[in-house]
Amino acid sequence: MKRAAWGVVALALALTGCDDSGDGRVPAAEYGEVLFNDSRLSESGFNSFSCATCHATTPTAPAGRMDSGYTLYDSAFRESWWGGFETRLLDAVNFCYVNFMRGVTPLPKDSPQSRALYEYLVSISPSPSAPARPFTVVKDIVEVTRGDVTRGQQVYVEACQSCHGEPHTGAGRLTELASILPEVTNDYDTLFPGVPKSLVVIEKVRHGQFFGVGGNMPLYSLESLSDEDLGALLAFLAL
Ligand code: HEC
Ligand code: HEC
Repeated sequence: MKRAAWGVVALALALTGCDDSGDGRVPAAEYGEVLFNDSRLSESGFNSFSCATCHATTPTAPAGRMDSGYTLYDSAFRESWWGGFETRLLDAVNFCYVNFMRGVTPLPKDSPQSRALYEYLVSISPSPSAPARPFTVVKDIVEVTRGDVTRGQQVYVEACQSCHGEPHTGAGRLTELASILPEVTNDYDTLFPGVPKSLVVIEKVRHGQFFGVGGNMPLYSLESLSDEDLGALLAFLAL
């Protein structure tokens, strides 16, 4: 992993070194785009996420993609981030970097990486100011009404499959650390006696690694995944 990290540093030097435009902004933004798409931004050998795993960068998220995180188009000058929880952009980024990408320490303000990421986010943020995006975390886990299986399959493909791979086999999953769904729930009756399996899955989806859950999967707010779609997904997974 050390080698991968050095690769990133070397790239930083190469890209900033050939900045002869006099402006300085474009090469940094380009380097930022590379970092945005590269899981090796994080030095952790257990990380396989890049920023692009969870965030689109187009004005609206592309069809067929239901991410836990918002598109970062026009994100640089939002009034606040993470539903008002973060008031500095770098803190909003570092929240993801540390919690989801297993970054060991937050990216320092003056590091080439954070500066380049900043320039990249600015380059995809044409509006000088943008409203904060709503972010509603479901605190208390309760059952949801089961929905349509066909819709549930679509939700699985768009929201879960990029990381977890195909249902039942995990084929094509991003990392072997992402459990096979729904088979991982086979143990839940032993692990969580008396708790319906579906509630454990709802807890994971709504809280990710927070509220004492653990791991590095992101959490899904009500805005990123409605209860209706979650109910359809559970029906598809036969939970
Ligand atoms: C595993 C998924 C995941 C990864 C990887 C990830 N994020 Fe996030 N990010 C989220 C979630 C979930 C939120 C909260 C919902 C939201 O605000 O977009 C979030 C929020 C944000 C926000 C605040 C957006 C807002 O308006 O509230 C920024 C900025 C951000 N992420 C940038 C990044 C950057 C840059 C990277 C790479 C260094 C990154 N994220 C990696 C999932 C992720
Ligand atoms: C950004 C990648 C990513 C996405 C998207 C994602 N997951 Fe995960 N998920 C993981 C990883 C990695 C783990 C194992 C680490 C952990 O527990 O956080 C995991 C673990 C889980 C577990 C817990 C397995 C256990 O150990 O008991 C469940 C349940 C789960 N995911 C369901 C889902 C569902 C349902 C979706 C879609 C709504 C989804 N995940 C979307 C990456 C992801």
